Amino acid sequence: MEKTLVILKPCTIQRSLIGEIVSRFEKKGLRLAGMKMIWLSDEILSEHYAHLKEKPFFQRIKDAMSVCPVIVCCWEGVDAINVVRTLTGATNGRNAAPGTIRGDYSMSVQENIVHASDSPETAAIEIKRFFSDTEIYDYKLNNLSSLYANDEF
Ligand code: TYD
Repeated sequence: MEKTLVILKPCTIQRSLIGEIVSRFEKKGLRLAGMKMIWLSDEILSEHYAHLKEKPFFQRIKDAMSVCPVIVCCWEGVDAINVVRTLTGATNGRNAAPGTIRGDYSMSVQENIVHASDSPETAAIEIKRFFSDTEIYDYKLNNLSSLYANDEF
């Protein structure tokens, strides 16, 4: 099983979409391993978006990510990193396919509802960036045999 990090961005909180977006991941069959509300500092955002620090929109996204608290979530499942990226859709909400979260809820490249880790390496770093070990819970879902064949997990 893989774990991945999702951030429900400020636009999601402001538009009262928290429940709907969390529900997408729940209904897919992912296990919620951790969740909390946090107001992101410029420091943590600079680290999180370090790959974009040369881009002209670097400060703009950091400002947009700190207009209000966000919800950080850790989801677990088989191939969870790819599964969550596929559910999330293309970065620009206007180009994202219908049926994806960004395709269904976003008209913007910046106000695009969620952040989702894009590789196993990034997921491990991002989970550690936002959660302490004791905030990640390793309980078992009692419906695993309804979610997967017994050789899939
Ligand atoms: P990026 O890591 O490229 O995309 P993704 O979120 O799909 O992994 O970019 C991070 C965030 O930066 C993106 O979610 C929104 C913002 N962004 C812009 O505001 N303008 C842009 O042109 C791009 C590429 C990203």
